[in-house]
Amino acid sequence: MSDNTDTSLAVVVLAAGQGTRMKSALPKVLHRIGGRSLIGHVLHTASGLRPQEVLVVVRHERDLVTTAVAEIAPGARVVDQDEIPGTGRAVQVALAAVPDFAGDVLVLSGDVPLLEAETLRALIASHRSTGAAVTLLSAHLTDATGYGRVIRDADGGVRRIVEEKDATPDEAAVTEINAGVYVFQAAALRTQLAHVSTANAQGEMYLTDVIGLLRGDDLPVSATTAADAAVALGVNDRAQLAEAARLLNQRVVRRWQLEGATILDPATTWIDVDATLAPDVTVLPGTFILRATAVAEGATLGPDTSLVDCEVGAGATVTRTDATLAVIGAGATVGPFAYLRPGTYLGDKGKIGTFVETKNSTIGERSKVPHLSYIGDTTIGSGVNLGAGAITANYDDITKHRTEIGDEVHTGSHNVFVAPVRIGEGAKTGAGAVIRKDVPAGALALSVAPQRNVEGWVENNRPGTAAADVAARARSAQKADDGSQGQDG
Ligand code: UD1
Ligand code: CA
Repeated sequence: MSDNTDTSLAVVVLAAGQGTRMKSALPKVLHRIGGRSLIGHVLHTASGLRPQEVLVVVRHERDLVTTAVAEIAPGARVVDQDEIPGTGRAVQVALAAVPDFAGDVLVLSGDVPLLEAETLRALIASHRSTGAAVTLLSAHLTDATGYGRVIRDADGGVRRIVEEKDATPDEAAVTEINAGVYVFQAAALRTQLAHVSTANAQGEMYLTDVIGLLRGDDLPVSATTAADAAVALGVNDRAQLAEAARLLNQRVVRRWQLEGATILDPATTWIDVDATLAPDVTVLPGTFILRATAVAEGATLGPDTSLVDCEVGAGATVTRTDATLAVIGAGATVGPFAYLRPGTYLGDKGKIGTFVETKNSTIGERSKVPHLSYIGDTTIGSGVNLGAGAITANYDDITKHRTEIGDEVHTGSHNVFVAPVRIGEGAKTGAGAVIRKDVPAGALALSVAPQRNVEGWVENNRPGTAAADVAARARSAQKADDGSQGQDG
């Protein structure tokens, strides 16, 4: 336990529901936005509050969810919900796991991913200052469909929450919704949960019933209205998933803009929450900066580029490129139309050009693979230039082999390097060479047989064709020309 742990705070994260409306084999809380699962966002926010306990309630696909929780928040405790359904039951089993806890219980939903620690800190502070038995977070929505409605007394106090399926038409017309986020006094919550029944439209123990029960016992109920209703967005279906992803992305893009990145088109630029952009990075439309991608100062990305777990060096340019687990050096250029697969390392001021695919290869400083090439399992030194159409034949149908190309090597166009093979420092190769044997440093490697021209072949073998006609004309013109030159000279 670190010094700044809030010992009177326990967080309960509800993640046991089936998520039926997602129509997915994957549990709802494991769907991702911004490169992180929904429950990952909630746990991340929860840990920012440094609570004494984090309890995650699971049931549907419990092993998958439990594994994810263990990865994201190793300190969290997983609690299994039984066959009694409902958010009320979920909180009840969580509290049973901490029978001695007597502080404040913050309840969060695994499917409300956009809440920020700041909002929750304010909610907890307000709860503690008013001494309410519960403080809930509400929001005003233009379309409240699907949410529980906050029903207030004439004097404005919260009386109860009614679920949409149980609401009268008048209640359903209310646009103040329950965000599904509450701080309760533990003792009051325990007492009231014992009185919650399943007598409602869904046959579930509603946590929301606790609000009305507390009021019935004349205990103080308080509500804080979110300034930005977007933070309350609950993800129940794929349309809401996309909306949550869009709102999160807006927030992330704006953050990097304020940190000094030029992002031309926020609507078509997607940046995961774990990616980082240094000042003076420029991002052109249609660019995806995903997972733990880190982009250094002054780099330009896009348009139409996707980077997954990549490092991009200062001042590098990456255009219309798809790259995963690649490192691009400072001042290097990549694309347009390049495909960098895992294990690609491009040195400073290097180039991976147009229609080039690379994999598990190191391309040294100032080295260039400019056009139409496949480079796999290769180590290339510095100052190398590979001619257009370079192919490393790294696979002999059984296993993969490496190609090694020394510093300052220049190769001809359309070479095949049949691995394992090594080209020594400073060597050169001819156009069309198939390099099957090592090339010593400084050698010129030629593997193509000298060219032989069979004169008159087309006229003899394809008489009467258009090709034969034009060839005959060209040859007689050539002869006449040679003759006249002969006379002059
Ligand atoms: C819930 C609230 C509703 C609120 C909305 C906000 C209740 C009864 N209703 O409705 O007032 O406006 O959230 O988003 O609480 N869960 C469990 N165990 C269960 C059932 C659900 O852990 O037995 C979990 C789910 O995995 C989910 C969360 O609780 O993470 C909310 O459940 P969900 O079914 O999505 O509730 P809503 O209908 O959205
Ligand atoms: Ca929900």
